[in-house]
Amino acid sequence: MPTVTQVILLSSLSIILIWLVASHHSTPTRTPTPHRNPNTPPTTSGKPAFRQRLIAVGDLHGDIENAQKVLGMAKIIDSNSNWIGGTDILVQTGDIVDRGTYAFDIYRMMQRLRGQADGQGGRVVSVLGNHEVMNAIGDWRIWKSKWWVNEGQKEKEGQGETEECAYWLGLPTSSRRYGRMYMLGLDFLLRPQGVYVFKEYVTQDDIKHTGGTQQRMRDLSIDGWLGQEWLANYSVTALVPLGPHPSAPTFSFTHGSLRPSYTDLLPYPDQINSLGHSLLVKALTPPLAPPYPPNPYSGLPKGHTQAEAALYDAGGPLWWRGLAETQNEKTVCEWADQLRTKLGVRRVIGGHTPDFEKIVDRCNASIIIIDTGISSAYGGVLSALEIVYTLTPIDITKDRDRNHRQDPLMADHTDEMYAEGLIKGHRYLEREVVTAIYAKKTKLLALEEREITL
Ligand SMILES: *[C@@H]1O[C@H](CO)[C@@H](O)[C@H](O)[C@H]1NC(C)=O
Ligand SMILES: *[C@@H]1O[C@H](CO)[C@@H](O)[C@H](O)[C@H]1NC(C)=O
Repeated sequence: MPTVTQVILLSSLSIILIWLVASHHSTPTRTPTPHRNPNTPPTTSGKPAFRQRLIAVGDLHGDIENAQKVLGMAKIIDSNSNWIGGTDILVQTGDIVDRGTYAFDIYRMMQRLRGQADGQGGRVVSVLGNHEVMNAIGDWRIWKSKWWVNEGQKEKEGQGETEECAYWLGLPTSSRRYGRMYMLGLDFLLRPQGVYVFKEYVTQDDIKHTGGTQQRMRDLSIDGWLGQEWLANYSVTALVPLGPHPSAPTFSFTHGSLRPSYTDLLPYPDQINSLGHSLLVKALTPPLAPPYPPNPYSGLPKGHTQAEAALYDAGGPLWWRGLAETQNEKTVCEWADQLRTKLGVRRVIGGHTPDFEKIVDRCNASIIIIDTGISSAYGGVLSALEIVYTLTPIDITKDRDRNHRQDPLMADHTDEMYAEGLIKGHRYLEREVVTAIYAKKTKLLALEEREITL
C-alpha cells in the first residue's frame, strides 16, 4: 500500500510529466513550420507538371502606398510597381475608391499591371465594390451615425452604414478601435447619451487630387478613362479557374457576400455581371447624377430595372455581409455548401467587411473574407491571400505500360494535352495550398491534396 506522501509525490510527478509532454507537443502546432514557404513545389512526388499561383487583395480605399506594399509583399510587383508576377493571377475584390486620396492612382496602377501581366501570361482580375458603384451613381456621401449607450445596451440610430460602426464599437476591443478611428482624424462628437460619427467617403483631398468635381465626373463617365476601364475590365463578380483542364478548381470572387437565395445568382457569373454592366452603363452615361453632397441623393440612374435595383440593394452581392457577419457557424457552412454546389466553385472569397487583424476563413476555408482594412483610413493589417495550385504526375510510365497492356489499341496519339505536360487520362497529385500573407508572417489556411485523373 502506498503512503499518502507517495501518492502525492506520484501524482505531482505525473502532472509535471503531462505538462512537459503537452507543452512539448503544443510548440510545433503553434507555428506550422512545414509550409513556411508555400512557393516551394511539393517534393513528395517529383516536379509539378503544372503550377498556378493566385494572389487576392481586399479593399484598398485610396491608399496607394499600402496597396503597393501589399502587392510587393505578395511578390506581384517590384519596387517600381512593375509586374513581376509572371503567370500569376491577381484578383482585387473592389473598393479601391473612397476614404483615402489616391484611388485614381491605384486604378491607373491596376490598368498598367493588367497590360504587363497580359504580356507575361499572367492576369489581373478586377471586381467592383459598392464604393465604385456609389461613385458611379453620384453617391459621394458623408454619413452620420449615432449610438445610444443605454444601460449596457447599444441601440443604433442614424443613416449610412451604422452596422459598420456598431461593429467597431461593439467589439471587445472597442475602446482601441474607437481610439484608432479618433486618431485618424475622423470627426467625433461625444455626448453623454452616445457617440456621433461624421465621415466623408469622397474626401476633399481626393476631389482636389483628381482635378475637381467636374473633372472627376468626366473621368468616371462612359467617355472618361476610368469609366471605360470599369466597363471593360471590372465586373461585379468573377469566376476564376486555376488550370486549363475541365476539372480545375474554380473560385468565386465578389466584393460583398453572395447570398444563396439571391434571385439572380444563376447562371453564374454571367447573370450578375450583365446586371452590373447595364447598371453601370446607365449610371455613367451623361448627364451623370450631380454628386451628393451637396446635391440631394438621386438614387439609382433613371430607367434602372428591378433586377438592377436588387443587385445594388442590401441583400445583393455589392452590399450583403452575411457570410462575414453571421455568427452561427452551422448556418454559414450550410450557405457555403449551397454556394459551392450552385456556383460549382471550391471557395467563395470576398471583401467588404473588415477584420483589422486577419484574413477570416470559415468552414474549412470554403469562405474567405480578405478585407483587413489595408488602407490607413482604417489602419488594419497589410494582407494578401495566396493560393498555389500544382499538379504533379504520378507514375506516368507505369500508367502507360498498364494502358498499353490492357488496351493495345490505345496508342500515344490519343494523348490529348490540356497544356504542356498535362495529359488527358493521366493521374496527377493535385495540391492546393491557401495561405494568408502578412507583413512579417504567413499563415496556412488550407492544404488539400488528392489524386485526380485528368
Ligand atoms: C482593359 O484591359 C486591357 C488589357 O487587358 C487593355 O488593353 C484595355 O485598354 C483595357 N480597357 C480599357 C477601356 O481601359
Ligand atoms: C471540415 O473538414 C473536416 C475534415 O475534412 C470535416 O470533418 C468537416 O466536416 C469539415 N467541416 C465543414 C464545415 O465543411
